Amino acid sequence: MLASLVMDKGRSPNLHLVRCGAVGKLTAFLFWGQCSCGRYLCNTFLKVRLRLTVYVIQWYPPQMASWRYLGLAERLAQFRRTHQLSAATLARAAGISLRAYYLIENGKVMPSMETLERLGRATKLDPGWLGFGVSANGLAPHITFAPGFDSDSLISDLLSVLRGNTGVVDDVYKYLDSTGAHEWRALLQQQDFSSVVASFPMQELIDCLAAIIDVDDSADIVGLGCGTAEREITLIKKLLTRRRRNLRLQLLDISVSLLGSAVQASDEFSRAHCVPVMALLGNFHNLPEYAHLLTGDYQRRRIITMFGYTFSNLDNEVQFLRRSMRWANEGDILVLDVPAAATDSSDRAEILRRDKSFSKRRGGEWHNAAFRFLTGPLRRNLDRITDIKIETELDQTSCVIPGSYAVMTSALVQFHSGESKHFVIGYSKRYDLTKLASHMESEGWRLINGYHYGPGNFGLVGVFQRHDPRPKRGRRPKKNAP
Ligand SMILES: C[S@@+](CC[C@H](N)C(=O)[O-])C[C@H]1O[C@@H](n2cnc3c(N)ncnc32)[C@H](O)[C@@H]1O
Repeated sequence: MLASLVMDKGRSPNLHLVRCGAVGKLTAFLFWGQCSCGRYLCNTFLKVRLRLTVYVIQWYPPQMASWRYLGLAERLAQFRRTHQLSAATLARAAGISLRAYYLIENGKVMPSMETLERLGRATKLDPGWLGFGVSANGLAPHITFAPGFDSDSLISDLLSVLRGNTGVVDDVYKYLDSTGAHEWRALLQQQDFSSVVASFPMQELIDCLAAIIDVDDSADIVGLGCGTAEREITLIKKLLTRRRRNLRLQLLDISVSLLGSAVQASDEFSRAHCVPVMALLGNFHNLPEYAHLLTGDYQRRRIITMFGYTFSNLDNEVQFLRRSMRWANEGDILVLDVPAAATDSSDRAEILRRDKSFSKRRGGEWHNAAFRFLTGPLRRNLDRITDIKIETELDQTSCVIPGSYAVMTSALVQFHSGESKHFVIGYSKRYDLTKLASHMESEGWRLINGYHYGPGNFGLVGVFQRHDPRPKRGRRPKKNAP
């Protein structure tokens, strides 16, 4: 094992680690060095594994070391913002002076390992992650629980909905248990679905994103509702094969089973390309409470993806953008993959004729897989069901994004007792790109590019960039302006 510490003039040091053939395992190293000729203070907390390998790789290129250093300051500031804590309170909780705290939060000094651990205890964050953006487990992908995440209370909420005679079974409940996750995968394998997924315009998306991130050559891909993260992983792999970039992958999902598969799938590529992967088990509706976990280095651009129609299944997408996405910085990118409207949202007859969700021509295999997936939470949690009848309706009146309409699926459940219950079990919207773009603009997301894809142009990918929609100070709109 060879490790060399390289110090730039007046800068925090960068650690270059070269790995070569060896046998054994070496864990948790703390490097602490002080240079007498300058005031260099460095701590590097690394987990190094030595294996029987014959290749040599360079770990953390110099620019990566500096973003890690800056990341600590921003992570602390963001933690305080989201928890509404004063610097004095956090300094007191960590048992350090306010002055020392400010030096750290302003990025002026890198704290000692002991101070980092104190800050870790005070914020309840892994000190390795807090300081360097990786946990003590090194780069090995692993799952972190988002603070406050409680799957048991979600199940309680579902059961209380099901106790009533009528109600809405939110999309989230379909993926919560492993059977639900399994049925989602079965649906993905189904030919109608898989042919749409196969035609996803990945190359166009990569060209578009590469042009944006080439400006600073670093970015975090943040997969919201990533499922097994197939597309996030393909995206980051392809971005890396074109050119060596400083990328990280952050995955967020509510399903342990799907996220577990995502972590396994990303493990190999993470090691091969030295890409840190962080998987968060959490509810994206509560994102503002733990956005600081999505590494808030303000210099790093975030490419936030919502693949697989996740956005279109939200009850209120506008509220989602306003409440759950307000942590996004100016310049961040949001990639939305949604179903496209078959025609004008006001033309009922034409929608019923052209939207394939209302088509009787879809095969039995599709209906079986969709039926199993959609009715899963009912079948698994209600006793003595004799029959479930599914109905699909068009909803043109309650969608919040202009030009969109929804396909609402409801289930009539019959029981042995003769009783029946009625639940809404699916709510999926379809969008018109121009109208979606115009509404997103008013919400602070500007369209960069949009692509239709799939048989009958059923899929739609929109790439949006965060901008500040508030009018600039001092520039009031002119009265009576046309
Ligand atoms: C329609 S699937 C899409 C999965 C994946 N993106 C794909 O393209 O295959 C929706 C995903 O969002 C996740 N999800 C749904 N509601 C969620 C929530 N409130 N918080 C976090 N993840 C959620 C589900 O577990 C599921 O993996």
